[in-house]
Amino acid sequence: MIDTHSHLNFNAFKKDCAQVIGRSFSNGIKAIINVGSDLETSKRAIELADEFENLYAAIGLHPVDTGREVFDFEIYKKMAGNKKAVAIGETGLDYFHVSDPKLIVLQKEVFLSHIKLARELDLPLILHCRGNKQEPYKPYYKMLEILKKEKEIKGVIHCFSADLEIAKNFLELGFYIGFTGVITFAKGFDEIIKELPSDKILTETDCPYLAPALYRGERCESWHVKFVIEKIAQIKNLSFVETEEQTEKNAINLFKLKI
Ligand code: NI
Repeated sequence: MIDTHSHLNFNAFKKDCAQVIGRSFSNGIKAIINVGSDLETSKRAIELADEFENLYAAIGLHPVDTGREVFDFEIYKKMAGNKKAVAIGETGLDYFHVSDPKLIVLQKEVFLSHIKLARELDLPLILHCRGNKQEPYKPYYKMLEILKKEKEIKGVIHCFSADLEIAKNFLELGFYIGFTGVITFAKGFDEIIKELPSDKILTETDCPYLAPALYRGERCESWHVKFVIEKIAQIKNLSFVETEEQTEKNAINLFKLKI
């Protein structure tokens, strides 16, 4: 089991981060990628990766935070030079939390800088995308339009929450599709997951957020990824072990994890 998107670097785990990491590894987790959302949490992700075996880091400025903090390319580039920094992100477009047109332009610029950084360092991107209620898929199409112009870029669209057609567009660009505990309780995912090739699916928690059905409302932890694997196995009519092995292989391939 690999949690390809966690935030053990966030304040929700400030007091018991080491215990949560220990609990996850003793519950069958083989690797965790901690994802940064700004400078501070990116630095923390690197610190944790330096401290713990099989813990990796992704560094980036979340689209929701682009109005609050400047994306300093050189500082992030230096951080990304760490051996255990395996991805750039999370980055992308978020029209759910951000509606100011100026900030939307800024989001795109910062997203382009992340793409540039990923290309320079030959690292995959971890993409975040969220639309508003009226136009839930609009930023997905915008993102696809941007990515289609960019060459030699790979990555994952994390916490995928659009439709099958959009998922197929990401697959065509060589991207993986990431699923969280949301698939254990929300509708509409079964059809999408059924159609996706097993070698393009990544498992993640986005902890402390998005706890699976059994733990809904509680703080999510990395080992909860087992419920995501279980659900994918059920939808695809595969065994848990088959699904676990395949999704591990996928994460190892994309992020070049050395586990
Ligand atoms: Ni996240």
